[in-house]
Amino acid sequence: ATTLGASAAASGRYFGTAVAAYKLSDSTYSGILNREFNSVTPENEMKWDATEPTQGQFSYTSADQIVARARSIGAKVRGHALAWHSQQPGWAQSLSGTTLRNAMLNHVTQVATHYKGQIDSWDVVNEAFADGSSGARRDSNLQRTGNDWIEAAFRAARAADPAAKLCYNDYNTDGQNAKSNAVYAMVQDFKSRGVPIDCVGFQSHFNSASPLPSDYQANLQRFANLGVDVQITELDIEGSGTAQANSFAAATRACLAVTRCNGITVWGIRDSDSWRASGTPLLFDGSGNKKAAYTAVLDVLNGG
Ligand code: G3I
Repeated sequence: ATTLGASAAASGRYFGTAVAAYKLSDSTYSGILNREFNSVTPENEMKWDATEPTQGQFSYTSADQIVARARSIGAKVRGHALAWHSQQPGWAQSLSGTTLRNAMLNHVTQVATHYKGQIDSWDVVNEAFADGSSGARRDSNLQRTGNDWIEAAFRAARAADPAAKLCYNDYNTDGQNAKSNAVYAMVQDFKSRGVPIDCVGFQSHFNSASPLPSDYQANLQRFANLGVDVQITELDIEGSGTAQANSFAAATRACLAVTRCNGITVWGIRDSDSWRASGTPLLFDGSGNKKAAYTAVLDVLNGG
């Protein structure tokens, strides 16, 4: 096939992108989005600060715009993210203990209920583990409400939208290391105790200092072997030209080699849309032209 989405669909997968609502009126941006992608992840619009800026007052306008666009182009939506230590509204940052726990659970319930039936997969909890060799949970206001905050969030999401697939999402978990081992142990524990979890997202923000790990595919596979789907959720790779194209091809190949890796999302459309302050980590240049990395990914999706 001739687009990323259609090519991924040939093997039952999706190819998605992060989308910013305020860019939907940009015709170059929208043209590429509508043509190439069959999944979208709101880049910021479904986060806690965006959806509940004042406690108990929910604001869905920007996120709804993205969901409406997704529906009009037949794309799935990956909801991002119900519970996260970052991008919390100020009022939540100042809460703690049971008050914060209940506010978080109410947030999960309200947002998942608003979008019930419209979300393919939710990033229920994002980035809850610490970097480095400890394998510990990340210290955060949510973690300080008790170690069971993650499973409580997953149970609330399942109750609110039973059809949505519920994912844990993190970075620096792309290869086998202390952090990914800790996430692995959590997923194994959730599975053994019947805590609802369906998928694990691997953000895959790569650069020359921390490139695609050599055991990327093996790591995706070991999670899949626990009985969850896996996805590449925020792919971007610093660099340019052939080297960058080869890395994008390798990441795509790793997913295709894992039966339960059912989708890839890049974290933005054009280089100029990237969250990275500088650099050229995406598949389209600032003018919306296809880069070598685009062609490399398309070729792999088409069996090349
Ligand atoms: O909306 C405000 C605007 O009102 C204000 O004038 C402006 C001034 O700084 O800031 C705007 O908010 C920015 C927001 O993006 C929307 O553009 C925030 O400052 C900025 O921090 C925020 O950055 C986002 C970042 O998450 C925040 O943590 C990036 O766009 C987004 O790409 C990035 O995405 C994260 C994933 O959610 C989780 N994984 C890592 C990934 C990359 O950091």
